[in-house]
Amino acid sequence: MIPPPERSDFPALAGREPPAYLDSACMSLVPRPVLGAMEAYYREYPGCAGRSLHRFAEEVGRRYEAARVAYARFFGGVDPNGVVFLRNATEAINLVGQGLPWRRGDRVLISDQEHNSNLIVWQRLARERGIRLEVLSLPDDGSFDPDALAQLLSRPVRLVSLFHTSNLDGRSLPVREIAEEAHDRGALVLFDGCQAAPHEAVDLGRIGADFYAVSGHKMLGPTGTGVLLGRPEALESLRPLVVGGETVAWSTLSDHALRPPPYRFEAGLQNYAGVIGAHAALDYLTRVGFEEVHRRALDLNRRVSRALAGERRLRLLGPAAPEERPSIFAFALDGIDPNDTALFLDEGHRVMVRSGMHCVHSYYERRGLPGNVRASFYLYNNRPDAEALIAGVREILERVGPGRLNGTSAGTARPTTRPGSARRHGAGSRAAAARSARPLRTTGRRRAASATGSG
Ligand code: ALA
Repeated sequence: MIPPPERSDFPALAGREPPAYLDSACMSLVPRPVLGAMEAYYREYPGCAGRSLHRFAEEVGRRYEAARVAYARFFGGVDPNGVVFLRNATEAINLVGQGLPWRRGDRVLISDQEHNSNLIVWQRLARERGIRLEVLSLPDDGSFDPDALAQLLSRPVRLVSLFHTSNLDGRSLPVREIAEEAHDRGALVLFDGCQAAPHEAVDLGRIGADFYAVSGHKMLGPTGTGVLLGRPEALESLRPLVVGGETVAWSTLSDHALRPPPYRFEAGLQNYAGVIGAHAALDYLTRVGFEEVHRRALDLNRRVSRALAGERRLRLLGPAAPEERPSIFAFALDGIDPNDTALFLDEGHRVMVRSGMHCVHSYYERRGLPGNVRASFYLYNNRPDAEALIAGVREILERVGPGRLNGTSAGTARPTTRPGSARRHGAGSRAAAARSARPLRTTGRRRAASATGSG
């Protein structure tokens, strides 16, 4: 049993019946010190940085830059001038995508399991600027084939842009080796670090990436905080997405001079409270330590994986060993719609998971799957959370009898019972039976559930 000393730091877990919050891969919970830091900004020094000379402005400027230095240190001691504060990792990836000076025919290499954040921008550039998208296929078992990468890199590639850890199944790619290989072939390297940075110490000097994108809201920070970490020289080559106040050293009615990175990318009044909160989140994570963060997630994942391994109708997504996907247990249940499973777990067992396509529609579309369910573990989860998930999955399997077992290696059986059709067909439907076990609260929730893959 893991002692959860910090659980009380998370107000969202307070109360006599706290939820089993297993959706941290989407957004982590926020501890008191982060809330306190944000409130302190509004209460004690609510100014704008870098403009006025009064004490509020001075204080917020000092703290904002301290956050930049903290991020630089947290990611292996990089140059603070390579830390750009943005809204989220999506914006960070867009800054690279829309900021690089592309030539027609430039090739960008992604994998076939990228989040929409690392897909749509390239598709748009392909249509509008003539870049070419190359796609590295990743095996479903979580393995990585260096020869497949080498093959794709045998022709010139301008940028390799891959996830570090997958939001689908929690596997990680060998980022250091990938960066080395890509650099040897003259490519720039961008990693989407959203799912890696909350769980492991990321040393960017060691990995050697040119760009690395993270979201503060997945690592105990507030929403609306994202960071692009980049080599300052690599950042120099980017055209800012947005320009205006704070991005320029001077301007006349006909001209202006941009400030150097990172300031040229931070246009307008910034999310000071958020950035200051994100800094407090880094401090919190540092106090807990990644060894402990990793140990807690893996312990729970092992427990869940072992307990549910024998369920014939459960299809695991990704590598079989929890050690290879320490923070994520993604699964589908044969014949049961993933959204029904998620609603059942929430309503009947207070277990919060994400269901749907997890903003990776392309993955499910190619396999003809309707989505799946994803439980993600973080440092505030405990054994009762894992037990609640196990009990909930077992109960829904029990209540919804076995159907046609025609599942694939990667996901749920097809076709699953859709919530809509279940409602139309009434009591005969297995999904309806699951729902009737625990009544749903609103039809609005059902509509929201069917949209969960749209991120
Ligand atoms: N990338 C986030 C998730 O997977 C939104 O839930």
